[in-house]
Amino acid sequence: MKQNVLTAKVLFVYGLSRMSIPVFTPEYVEEIRQLPEVVAAKNRLTAGQASFTIPATETLRSALSPLGLDITQSTIPMRWIIGDSAPHIDSGPSAFENTYLVYLSDSPGEFILGDTSYPITANTGFVFNEGIQHETRGTGSVPRLLLGPMNEFAQPVGIAAANYYSNYSDAFTQTGALGSGGYVIGSGIFDLYIHLGE
Ligand SMILES: [Fe+2]
Repeated sequence: MKQNVLTAKVLFVYGLSRMSIPVFTPEYVEEIRQLPEVVAAKNRLTAGQASFTIPATETLRSALSPLGLDITQSTIPMRWIIGDSAPHIDSGPSAFENTYLVYLSDSPGEFILGDTSYPITANTGFVFNEGIQHETRGTGSVPRLLLGPMNEFAQPVGIAAANYYSNYSDAFTQTGALGSGGYVIGSGIFDLYIHLGE
């Protein structure tokens, strides 16, 4: 596996073409990490992942626009993750074109996108086409913080897992799962998706 040295902060992967631009200032990364939503989510994370949102402030929208994101939603999905994400193609609540994620903490291990491996370092962003397989390896037990992973509609994306919840809030935070198994149309079960990993 080839190890790339990123000379810039963001890597775009559109098929075979790649380009890079900066994301946030180090001060703004720290500001995000200190947000009460971020701190609270980390405190409830014991294993796996914790999904949550932060307000889509004007500063954040502006900072994300160079990624090609035109955020009109009021919140941005974020995720704390412990452990590796298995190889997968992202799923989301609707059809989408790209996955957007920005690592906001350093982590052991590597993010493998397609056939290329990247270190996981704070303030490194990735944009890649829907359908590109990706995973993480060797991340150990150190929690890592991500803005996203989300699609161009600022909806969370990731590994789709067929757990079932009685309402969206529980589905989003992955608490109180009713169980898993077959999809029963009209059963009143709110959201079939949970989103795991990067
Ligand atoms: Fe993913």
